Amino acid sequence: MIKEKIKQLIKNSIKNLQNEGKFIEFEIPEIVVEYPKDKQHGDYSTNISLQIAKIIKKKPLEIANILADQLINSRRDLFEKVEVAAPGFINFFISKEYLQRQIKEILKQKEKFGGQNIGKNRAVMVDYSSPNVAKPMHVGHLRSTIIGSAIYNLYKFLGYKVIGDNHLGDWGTQFGIMISAYKKYKSEIPNLKDITVSKMLDIYVKFNKEIKNSPELQDIAKSEFKKLEDGDRENRKIWRIIRGKSLKEFDKIYKILDIKFDLVLGESFYGKYLIEEIRNALKKGIAVRNSDRSVIINLEKFNLPPCLIQKSDGATLYGTRDLATIRYRVKKYDPDKIIYVVGNEQALHFEQLFHSAELLDYISYDKLYHMKFGLVLGENRKKLSTREGRFINADHLINKVVELANKTIKEKNPSLPKKIREEASKVIGIGALKYNDLSQNRQTNIVFDWNKMMNFKGNSAPYLLYTYVRLKSILRKAKFSGKFKPEFLEGEIELNIIKKLTNFPDIVKDSADSFQINNLTDYLYLLASFVNNFYEKLPVLKAEKEIKLVRLALIKAVTIVFKNGLNLLGIKTLEKM
Ligand code: ARG
Repeated sequence: MIKEKIKQLIKNSIKNLQNEGKFIEFEIPEIVVEYPKDKQHGDYSTNISLQIAKIIKKKPLEIANILADQLINSRRDLFEKVEVAAPGFINFFISKEYLQRQIKEILKQKEKFGGQNIGKNRAVMVDYSSPNVAKPMHVGHLRSTIIGSAIYNLYKFLGYKVIGDNHLGDWGTQFGIMISAYKKYKSEIPNLKDITVSKMLDIYVKFNKEIKNSPELQDIAKSEFKKLEDGDRENRKIWRIIRGKSLKEFDKIYKILDIKFDLVLGESFYGKYLIEEIRNALKKGIAVRNSDRSVIINLEKFNLPPCLIQKSDGATLYGTRDLATIRYRVKKYDPDKIIYVVGNEQALHFEQLFHSAELLDYISYDKLYHMKFGLVLGENRKKLSTREGRFINADHLINKVVELANKTIKEKNPSLPKKIREEASKVIGIGALKYNDLSQNRQTNIVFDWNKMMNFKGNSAPYLLYTYVRLKSILRKAKFSGKFKPEFLEGEIELNIIKKLTNFPDIVKDSADSFQINNLTDYLYLLASFVNNFYEKLPVLKAEKEIKLVRLALIKAVTIVFKNGLNLLGIKTLEKM
């Protein structure tokens, strides 16, 4: 946490200078510390003097000099030097001794390295995956699943109590259609317990087509949903079986992807709270009932269309259930933040929802975050589809990527026993899938480029996993015992790697704070290229004894950071491939 440490030191220095009367009293602005691109500008740098200059009307350079003086004297063990550069930057150079000590620290902390306790006693909820029952899971839900579980892991590593909730789409008027369809085409489904999700989709689509010719079917569907809401036994049973069968299919996907949830309540869970929800909003004067009996929350002052929470026929909506969900979550977990991992296309829905929740006094707007993401496109930049032109489902994609990994490994290493290869294909294939998603800017549409995903030399999971395996095999070959003398770590290449390693805790925090997980993938990629360069340029096993040991220690530290970083992304590591 060097970056956080430096921020704290700057803050303390300013306070000291204020106490000594060298600076006037003012509220300290947010301190930004960056990694300069050019090594001449140090390992860390800040523009705080430029910010303060505006407040206290002094020359930035003068402020920087006073601060730099204080800072170097505050931690001579941490800084080798603290320099000032025009027009008022302060540049920090970390001392060699400090870096040498860090390697011991990493080896000692192992899987805990990078973890923090800033989230202590605070809860964060992550709403992710959330596919719709009675339909196959599509690639958008797959993105939500992958991104959501990574952000879950990051917050957990920061010490928060994280609650992951799979908010299934298992309620709503579409279940009226589903139930009517089942009743209409019962003869095609001799035993409901054997129905597959693809059959559910078939009859759903078929029924919807018929609605076009016979509009009265719409009313039948409506009344079937009404019966479901009112607890009709037969409809409840049909719904329960359909939901259960869908969940089973989703669970297969979660198992391969190694995804877990703390809660799988789904929209249906909130059915019982909806009438109260509407009444409450009306009573508080936040919602109004229109002449057609529909109920809306007016959001004009936010420049947003109104949020409809009850239709004129009395039906509730997706948003009504989301409001009830917020109320429930706040009451039960009092979260610091609720993160919704849902596609860009629902941006308006969440804007309306968040403002409505604040108006209703459930939670403040800034504790709600829509972690939105773009579409998944094929290499031709069109929506992913199969050869028959059908939209690709999550399970097809997963099978395809694992198959591809299997083929690639077979080509690269034909002698690897089948069993090991199959295990490795799962790790590499799933890893590639997740990494492809997480390493791109999440708000843009991501492209599915199979070659890039599987490229053992590019910014991909196979490259990182391969680098990891190589390092592990060096450690095995050398029978590294863990004993070494840190003072032998001195070369520039080695020191640059250790500097990179000490950034890891800050990268973890920044990735979570900014919700930009590609910060972490970029970091791991750069670390891999540093260490591959190190290994090409410098001997390890053939180096002279003390140097060899310290280089092995460095390699060991790198494997720890790789493993911790990949774990956060939900990617398993391998010992061999
Ligand atoms: N089931 C929804 C869909 O597929 C996503 C639900 C997201 N979560 C939420 N709280 N609205 O569109």
